[in-house]
Amino acid sequence: MSDYRIASIPGDGIGVDVQIEARKVLDRAAGQYGFSLQWTEFDWSCERFATSGTMMPDDGIEQLAGFDQILLGAVGFLGVPDHVSLWGLLIPVRRAFAQYVNLRPVRLLPGTTSVLAGRGAEELEMVIVRENSEGEYSTIGGRHGSGAGEFAVQESVFTRVGVERIIRYAFELARTRSGNVVSATKSNGIIHTMPFWDEIFAEIAAGYPDVHSEQCHIDALAARMVQQPERIDVVVASNLFGDILSDLAAAVTGGLGMAPSGNINPAREHPSMFEAVHGSAPDIAGQGIANPVAQILAGSMLLEHLGELDAARAVSTAVEKVLAAGEVATPDLGGKATTAELGTAIADALGGYQ
Ligand code: NAI
Ligand code: MG
Repeated sequence: MSDYRIASIPGDGIGVDVQIEARKVLDRAAGQYGFSLQWTEFDWSCERFATSGTMMPDDGIEQLAGFDQILLGAVGFLGVPDHVSLWGLLIPVRRAFAQYVNLRPVRLLPGTTSVLAGRGAEELEMVIVRENSEGEYSTIGGRHGSGAGEFAVQESVFTRVGVERIIRYAFELARTRSGNVVSATKSNGIIHTMPFWDEIFAEIAAGYPDVHSEQCHIDALAARMVQQPERIDVVVASNLFGDILSDLAAAVTGGLGMAPSGNINPAREHPSMFEAVHGSAPDIAGQGIANPVAQILAGSMLLEHLGELDAARAVSTAVEKVLAAGEVATPDLGGKATTAELGTAIADALGGYQ
């Protein structure tokens, strides 16, 4: 029997609520498929920042390094600036562990209504491959001057290694899916980094004659995602573009409560980290009504990355079954169920012993 060591970082707000449900479902699946998950919990969060001044201890990265994977709730809370929570925890983990792929599968789940009502599940199934280690999220720049003359400069960093590896990942992924890749660009307005991105995309595309590739300006791609989602399968995008597109993609399907995400180190030299796309949702935190589906599906991606493919598929099928039945639904899905009731319903849909 395999034992996996998983670091659990519930974080803040609804991150805590949805993490409990994801663990409930994953433990049930593990029991059924003959492996076990040894969880170690870390209280790294904005709450910790408020009392100790840091999101995680100085040796936080070393503490995480020995784990097989990381499951993260969400960080961010009122009173702590968002750049502190992001740069104090998420970005250091993504970079230290070379989790250079941010993989965001998007699909219309059964029993849920899209703003694109009338579209079938097969028309709304795509995956965003977001560059996760460089690009527009950089520390280079600064604030200068004062008064009316004050200004800020922020530089983007695009390296050949970083751009090549994310684009290559997208082409490889496309081979396992529909064979279509679209690159998000903006080389008409951003005249250094984006033409560089486009050139590398064309170079790599030449090595994949079996994959259909095209590039599309980010603004037009955003419109296409709403108007013709059936034309999109694998999207590869820079860090910022991928971030924005994946919230849009989540919104045209079932909403943020259903969209999972993986921060993946493809070489498996370091732990990968799985989380929901959504944040800590202070507006509904502490009410017990957050939708746990995104976090449970993030857990399914974690199992898939461990190689527990049957258990991963069982978890996503259990989610589909419960959503399709529509009897247990949180308020964002139009129901009255609590986070725990939906989590338990999904765990029960897996069958097996309590
Ligand atoms: P958010 O995703 O937390 O919330 C946006 C809206 O969606 C809210 O109205 C919320 O109630 C709703 N929502 C989100 N998840 C839901 C769920 N599971 N069930 C039902 N409704 C849900 O984004 P927002 O409000 O921009 O950010 C709040 C905090 O979260 C900020 O501090 C931000 O920095 C942080 N954040 C953290 C992320 C992370 O840890 N990876 C990602 C995004 C935001
Ligand atoms: Mg985001």
